[in-house]
Amino acid sequence: MANQLVEEVKSRRTFAIISHPDAGKTTLTEKLLLFGGAIRDAGTVKGKKTGKFATSDWMEIEKQRGISVTSSVMQFQYNDFRINILDTPGHQDFSEDTYRTLMAVDSAVMIIDSAKGIEEQTLKLFKVCRMRGIPIFTFINKLDRQGREPLELLEEIEEVLDIETYPMNWPIGMGKEFYGIYDRHYHRIELFRTDLEHRFLTLDQNGEVMEDHPIKQTSLYSQALEEVLLLDEAGDEFSVEKLNEGKMTPVFFGSALTAFGVQTFLDTYLQFAPPPQPRNSDQGEIDPASKGFSGFIFKIQANMNPAHRDRIAFLRICSGEFERGMSVTLSRTGKQFKLTQSTQFLADDRSTVNRAVSGDIIGIYDTGTYQIGDTIAEGKKIIQYEKLPQFTPELFAKVTAKNVMKQKSFHKGIHQLVQEGAVQLFKTYRMEDYILGAVGQLQFDVFVHRMKNEYNSDVIMESMGSKIARWLDSEEVDEGLSSQRSLLVKDRFDNPVFLFENEFALRWFTDKNPSVPLKDPMEIQ
Ligand code: G4P
Repeated sequence: MANQLVEEVKSRRTFAIISHPDAGKTTLTEKLLLFGGAIRDAGTVKGKKTGKFATSDWMEIEKQRGISVTSSVMQFQYNDFRINILDTPGHQDFSEDTYRTLMAVDSAVMIIDSAKGIEEQTLKLFKVCRMRGIPIFTFINKLDRQGREPLELLEEIEEVLDIETYPMNWPIGMGKEFYGIYDRHYHRIELFRTDLEHRFLTLDQNGEVMEDHPIKQTSLYSQALEEVLLLDEAGDEFSVEKLNEGKMTPVFFGSALTAFGVQTFLDTYLQFAPPPQPRNSDQGEIDPASKGFSGFIFKIQANMNPAHRDRIAFLRICSGEFERGMSVTLSRTGKQFKLTQSTQFLADDRSTVNRAVSGDIIGIYDTGTYQIGDTIAEGKKIIQYEKLPQFTPELFAKVTAKNVMKQKSFHKGIHQLVQEGAVQLFKTYRMEDYILGAVGQLQFDVFVHRMKNEYNSDVIMESMGSKIARWLDSEEVDEGLSSQRSLLVKDRFDNPVFLFENEFALRWFTDKNPSVPLKDPMEIQ
């Protein structure tokens, strides 16, 4: 039995795809699910944005925006691996939950549009992965279109993200003249627009195509050979150690839309991506294959339908195995209870889960018991996994109660929602005005809706726009430094924070006050 658990845990690969909107995350996810046989038709993942979702009873915001619990986690089997892909919602759905999801994965896949390079949201998500030091695999997408020079893209990744790159394969041309990829790892050429039977060409010892093939006559082939030679000689060597520490990213080229290079990517990814790793807790490191179920909650999704107030808490299993009905303890409160209502996330639908192991994600129905970051462990065990980090909010809004007679429910609602991790709360120094902080507008929309529906409190939100938040890294606070353009506030633990109007205001402030230490919790160390 113990051995079976070890094997099962080893087969798990739990990752998230990080990218900027439109880079091709949905398309790639769909192709991966197709290879895993988890879906039959392309369009299924996207389809959830409309068709299937319309019948669900989740609320308007969710319907409009297509946030679906079903696509939050997608699990499927591929060869001997059980793969969990965690969705990182972008567009208007970007929120702290997107960041927190990255706390629950063991590796990340970064998709870059070959015509655009590193974009804003990719950078933000990358920073969170970097904080955790998890392996990051890069897929440069849309090679079937004219994009930027591959060497230039690698340079940008190395410079902007401060990470070494190792191209696992190299494109031969691009756009209309995209012939395929030179696969350094599998030592073969994979041809684009070619049927499966003739897709691969083997290479000889010198790294050249063995057989007589027309591609050998093309200048793009010769150019690719030259570039690969350059990479062999002058590029970094592949290092699994560096990959595991998040210091080197293997780079793949391909085209998600045409499913080109995707399976090769998946096979190589599975070979190198780590299975679940030990996690730090207040009881020391806990091995994922150790007996005794434990896990932590990284996301709580409210059911926005007023008729169903229940929520779903997403739990990442970190050790042992989960069985439905098992008795567990919530360490924050010491409360013991049975986990009976749970759900697992399969690519095609939600279904009741009876059994899951380390690396898997389960959804637990929540009637207000859980908070983000909570640890649950089997039996009477009390352990607490490391606290989730603080994320730097970027959007701010003043919030007041519409009805001054309803202050009690207003305060109760805010405090509970803040504790739950829905939004961040700040207060001004003198007047103690409430300011909410978020990383995405969705968090404010959800907040307003839940205040009304769950706490019967109508709120007035007065947008302050985007600000740059920097925590004061010192005990001493000089309230005199507060101004309109560098507003001094307190976070919910009374730590002082400056909210700067823009980059210019931040620079001006640091130039004027070089001895005031400021800190961005998400800054790459
Ligand atoms: P996202 O989830 O990261 O936001 O991106 P998504 O997969 O939705 O892809 C964004 C657009 O890029 C889509 O086109 C998609 O078809 C296209 N795309 C994705 N991968 C490739 C690729 O390898 N090559 C090319 N040429 N295009 C790609 P769209 O027109 O915006 O949407 P749709 O109408 O096709 O759904």
